[in-house]
Amino acid sequence: MENRLKELRQSALKRVEAAASEEDLRAVTREFIGKQGAVSELLALIPNLPPAERGAMGKGANLLKRSIGDAISERKLALEALALDAQRAGGDFDPSLPGAPQMRGSLHPLTLVRREVEGIFSSMGYSILDGPEVELDYYNFQALNIPEHHPAREMQDTFYCDSGGKLVMRTQTSPVQIRAMESLSPPFRVIAPGRVFRNEEADATHEHTFHQVEGLVVGRDITVGHLTGVLKGFLRQLFQRDLDVRLRPGYFPFVEPGFELDIRCPFCEEGCRVCKKTCWVEFCGCGLVHPTVLEAGGIDPEAWTGFAFGFGLDRLVMLRHGIDDIRHFMGGDLRFLEQF
Ligand code: DAH
Repeated sequence: MENRLKELRQSALKRVEAAASEEDLRAVTREFIGKQGAVSELLALIPNLPPAERGAMGKGANLLKRSIGDAISERKLALEALALDAQRAGGDFDPSLPGAPQMRGSLHPLTLVRREVEGIFSSMGYSILDGPEVELDYYNFQALNIPEHHPAREMQDTFYCDSGGKLVMRTQTSPVQIRAMESLSPPFRVIAPGRVFRNEEADATHEHTFHQVEGLVVGRDITVGHLTGVLKGFLRQLFQRDLDVRLRPGYFPFVEPGFELDIRCPFCEEGCRVCKKTCWVEFCGCGLVHPTVLEAGGIDPEAWTGFAFGFGLDRLVMLRHGIDDIRHFMGGDLRFLEQF
């Protein structure tokens, strides 16, 4: 038996070395270590041996099986290397040619700035929420203190999705405020970035699809000071310097008092095209959450107060990167997109 092992080893290794193709190697595998190969045959004889010899024999045969397998793998790699060398020597391989060009993708400027905004608010302890783009009229308007025939609906030319008028393409991210109040218990602070839709004629500053970031904080004794403090802190991070802000009274049915917050034009000292020579740029709508809206969200307005804000992300990206036309964002022109 021991001699048989030795013989097998020698003849197997010789065959492996002589193998000139993968086909040859498959044959060696079959004949020696396959299910009906010579080593397996040997293993099948072991039960007939005297008990004292069985252990050593089994061990020997298994070792042999492993070393033949290893030799085959090694020879396979060597054959592959040989084939590659032959191909290179054949003359149709020129290692000095540049490789096939790889198209490199990049993130959309809206995504880049959205992530930056999310990062800044996360660092201030805000959670990031999402909401449906096809929204119930209830969340988009009614619960935000805009009942059915309220004139404030006029400001947002709405795409209605069903004849009953129950479903709308959300015209603002503000409905996420109500959804947040329904699902979280105060105190909490959240932002909700997302797409919004209005039936508007497209021009350099208007599109039917654009992006907003909503903010909502609910807590005890919230004041306008908290609101401006947070927004100034956010703008400082985003523009890497202090920008003056100012509040003007603004009407939004879901806040009272309501404001428009302007920022000092980041581009000029004495008036330019971006700020239309006023030195101020409109940044967002904001205010203290209307008690009726807290109630609609299931929060007791006697116990809790809050502030909210909403700004256009497209506008912010345009300000950050000096982009002069909102239509570039959805235009799909690679010459524009490749700059980011
Ligand atoms: N949703 C408003 C709009 O699209 C913006 C806005 C104003 C959001 C005031 C707010 C807010 O949260 O408090 O015009």
